[in-house]
Amino acid sequence: MSHKEPAGDNIVVAPCHPISRWWSKEMVAIVTGANKGIGFALVKQLAKLGLTVVLTARNTIRGVEALESLKSEGLHVHFFSLDVSDPNSIQAFVSRFQEAFGVVDILINNAAVSFNNIYENSVKEAATVIRTNFYGPKMLTEALLPLFRHSSAAGRILNISSRLGLLDKLKNPKIKEMLLDEENLCEEKIVWMVNLFLENVKNGTWESQGWPQIWTDYAVSKLALNAYSKVLAKRYKGHGLSVNCLCPGFTQTSMTGGKGAQTPDEEAVVGARLALLPEEELPTGKFYVIGSNHVIYSKL
Ligand SMILES: NC(=O)c1ccc[n+]([C@@H]2O[C@H](COP(=O)([O-])OP(=O)(O)OC[C@H]3O[C@@H](n4cnc5c(N)ncnc54)[C@H](OP(=O)(O)O)[C@@H]3O)[C@@H](O)[C@H]2O)c1
Repeated sequence: MSHKEPAGDNIVVAPCHPISRWWSKEMVAIVTGANKGIGFALVKQLAKLGLTVVLTARNTIRGVEALESLKSEGLHVHFFSLDVSDPNSIQAFVSRFQEAFGVVDILINNAAVSFNNIYENSVKEAATVIRTNFYGPKMLTEALLPLFRHSSAAGRILNISSRLGLLDKLKNPKIKEMLLDEENLCEEKIVWMVNLFLENVKNGTWESQGWPQIWTDYAVSKLALNAYSKVLAKRYKGHGLSVNCLCPGFTQTSMTGGKGAQTPDEEAVVGARLALLPEEELPTGKFYVIGSNHVIYSKL
């Protein structure tokens, strides 16, 4: 994936600049899909930085194994099971989380699926991909919104997204226009868009409708997640909650069959840094990518 890296104001954070610790152990972070890959690495990094971290996973055995592996490194985190594609699981998680912690400061929506190998583009599992990657973070965010702590340090939602879902990948003019009209963009329009995509999949017309051409179902799910993040960011701007997206870049995980330019741990150092920017430097409504030298910059 090639891209041009801007300079100056668009760069928010470079890992070579040390970040001074302004947070405390009382700060609570939730990471979804954290039994492996980037989610697991983010949990590890946030725990190393001294936050209270909730590792969630849809499979209890895999979640507990992840917990134990962190314990063997001297890191203590909390485990809750959570399948983001299942409304009942979200409801059960949120009530157990509320009982145990009461408040949340950081939510990292990381869990996602893709059923394609790198050069494939099947949409056979489109419904599951949209349900997990778009509706999952949306439903969980909505359920957790009342639990965000109102304090001097703003609450943070970081949606792990992908460049594959950027607007330049979309060729359908009507939908592009709708997504670019941020003033009038709303959840209903985004839901209409994903329904239209699923309808195109069902009737076999998806290839001619101007949807993104690489990993189409996954790209549409991230397109929708990016748009939803913008809607939320606008709604909560000035009200103590920042909402941003981060594309980790090509990272060596199961999703890429182990291929990639960086390891999940390298990604997590940068991702955690973005999640922990001091309030006065904290942006909202941005889509960040990690560039060379692990500098994070905004694509928008
Ligand atoms: N790797 C890359 O190059 C790359 C590039 C751009 C963006 N991303 C994004 O980075 C994030 C992490 O991906 P990754 O590369 O670390 O992939 P990964 O190794 O495949 O990890 C995905 C995680 O999500 C979990 N998950 C899947 N469906 C779930 C559900 N319904 N409920 C809860 N958890 C679920 C998986 O759990 P199981 O183990 O149970 O399956 C796993 O823990 C994703 O949002 C992905 O889109 C990755």
